[in-house]
Amino acid sequence: MGRLNEVGGAGSTSGTKQCSGTALNAEGRRTLKKSLIDDPQVSGASQASEQCSGQAELFKSVRLKTEELCEPLTPEDMMVQSCAEASPAKWHLAHTTWFFETFLLREFLPDYEPFHPDFVWLFNSYYNTVSDQPVKKLRGSFSRPSLQEILDYRRHVDAAVESWIESGVSEEVARRIELGLHHEQQHQELLAYDIKNAFWSNPLHPAYCEGALASLGDAEPVKWIEYTGGLLEIGHGGDGFCFDNEQPRHKVYLEPIALASRLVTCGEYLDFMRDGGYERAELWLSEGWDTLRAQGWRAPLYWFEADGEWRVFTLRGAVDLRAVLAAPVCHVSYFEADAFASWAGERLPTEAEWEVAAEGLPIEGNLLESGELHPVAAQGGEGLRQMFGDVWEWTASAYLGYPGYSPLPGALGEYNGKFMSNQMVLRGGSAVTPASHIRSTYRNFFAPASRWQFSGVRLANRLE
Ligand SMILES: [Fe+2]
Repeated sequence: MGRLNEVGGAGSTSGTKQCSGTALNAEGRRTLKKSLIDDPQVSGASQASEQCSGQAELFKSVRLKTEELCEPLTPEDMMVQSCAEASPAKWHLAHTTWFFETFLLREFLPDYEPFHPDFVWLFNSYYNTVSDQPVKKLRGSFSRPSLQEILDYRRHVDAAVESWIESGVSEEVARRIELGLHHEQQHQELLAYDIKNAFWSNPLHPAYCEGALASLGDAEPVKWIEYTGGLLEIGHGGDGFCFDNEQPRHKVYLEPIALASRLVTCGEYLDFMRDGGYERAELWLSEGWDTLRAQGWRAPLYWFEADGEWRVFTLRGAVDLRAVLAAPVCHVSYFEADAFASWAGERLPTEAEWEVAAEGLPIEGNLLESGELHPVAAQGGEGLRQMFGDVWEWTASAYLGYPGYSPLPGALGEYNGKFMSNQMVLRGGSAVTPASHIRSTYRNFFAPASRWQFSGVRLANRLE
């Protein structure tokens, strides 16, 4: 989320209307419209201003959520940058603000006064057409500006954006605000990854939040859900927000396929490990085997042995692996996902196979709002389970532009397209993805060796 570097998935906002930032997803849009309809004070003539008010409220709530995620953290916690992929929480607070200041206020609001003349380059992540930027690994050295100054920066930008929305904004400005909110939600998820790695790297292994993980029963048996394939379409084609990498909608031809009804569990992954999964070169892609040997991999990230038993570090602290055997395996790389699929005699789905199966399913699942902050076992029911939430699902698809893909014009064209090499697509969101941020067409992407993100495995089986 790109995202490897900062955040991937650059935005396009096809079909959005003025102040359409209220439409973070279809469900959110329905909720807002219903509230407007239910309110007798609202007339058709005032609908535009009500929509602007809706975007103002949405702006406040998304910005507040980022700060709420930081509430359990001390200022010292917020300085930690514990792995190459991660950024300090303090930097996330500043950079998400920088995005609004750079691509909205500086560009569209003539009388806007920037908070600080150096912040335009200091908190730039990777937009080379905007400015040079500090080397990423140095973000943990930003003891100045202070945390309070960054919070003041947020207040400064928030006040400017909120008053502007309330005074009425153009369609283009409304689209930029919507993009900025989705960008911020991506960083909310990255915050969770980075905080988890920071606390894992701390010898005390502190918990980010209190409370036990959800109790899990046994894993339900896998069922194979069959699809006939044929000439189908994928990609975002309707109204509402999407990133530019989800477009254009286009035809794909698929052979018949069966998808596993649920995600691969920790228990199944332990079986793979006990069967020599990490010692059998024949199961691994060449680069995966080299990475395994170079990194010393012998289990998913955050699994560790204590007194001869496997334990798993979570945002709620460490737990016995036995307590989470039915939960989806998490924090595996593409190479590990692929090796597991080979061991199981199956394969990973392509992103097109995943999307045609997911299209039309409700956006329901163990997402950020559940508060679990960790994948949980599939619940009973028919059909595909866990398609949204729990873990991002590695696909067998390289991250490339769709046929006819066109990046956004200008500097925002750097958001996404320039990462289309050496990365694989993941689908479906995770236990730390905001619900209003995910959809069936959403394309996440990471380098195949990356595993600090909440990523797991769903198997596919091509029908003969
Ligand atoms: Fe970013």
